[in-house]
Amino acid sequence: MAFVVAVAQRKGGAGKSTLAANLAAAFAGLGERVALLDTDPQKTLAFWSEARAKAGPRANVLDFEAPSGWRVPATCERLRRSHDIVLLDTPPHDDTDARIAIRSADLVLVPLQPSPADLWATGATLDLARAEKRPVAMTLNRVPAQGKLAEQVLKELRQKGLTVLDTPLGNRSGFASAFAAGLGVTEAAPRSQAAEEVRALAAALGRLRRR
Ligand SMILES: Nc1ncnc2c1ncn2[C@@H]1O[C@H](COP(=O)(O)OP(=O)(O)OP(=O)(O)O)[C@@H](O)[C@H]1O
Ligand SMILES: [Mg+2]
Repeated sequence: MAFVVAVAQRKGGAGKSTLAANLAAAFAGLGERVALLDTDPQKTLAFWSEARAKAGPRANVLDFEAPSGWRVPATCERLRRSHDIVLLDTPPHDDTDARIAIRSADLVLVPLQPSPADLWATGATLDLARAEKRPVAMTLNRVPAQGKLAEQVLKELRQKGLTVLDTPLGNRSGFASAFAAGLGVTEAAPRSQAAEEVRALAAALGRLRRR
């Protein structure tokens, strides 16, 4: 039975689609049977998946689907039986669709850029997860190489008793270039710092699954 992870954050542009795609590619590279579901009407991952079909042998095998909102639970249950990990990308703003995806998940992964706007927007996502009684792991994304803001945000979240993974992703141009090619950074640039960070994040999720 698969571990189902919904990547959710009400704040637009926090990195939900980037994380979902990169984690899917990284887990597929480890030989896991991966399903990636795009539940966002923006269809970001559907475009990624189209590019991926032309990406050649660097693209690890994974299954992609983009079910409409009401079909998400049934699709998820079906894929749960045939895969090791199911990753759901979710829309910003739309609480109904995000709620459906969160309800289908074993864990809600919440990306957060170290900025006050992202921090303030997170409360709504945490409320949704709490209402659906789903555990949450937060993960810092686009952390700048310099500055203390990330440390402050981390401290603030942990003081609130929230689980924050110790595997932040830096602000790296490699994410966008890999994405444009329909790849994850572990496929497009396996020796890069970005790839190292994504592998660490995937390993941290693997540890949460075994808990
Ligand atoms: N770690 C990172 N380093 C550099 N750029 C990043 C990183 N993560 C995401 N981005 C960039 O930030 C932008 C938004 O990312 P993404 O589309 O993944 O966010 P999202 O949360 O899915 O957005 P939406 O809420 O619109 O669905 C993209 O241009 C993406 O390439
Ligand atoms: Mg998105």
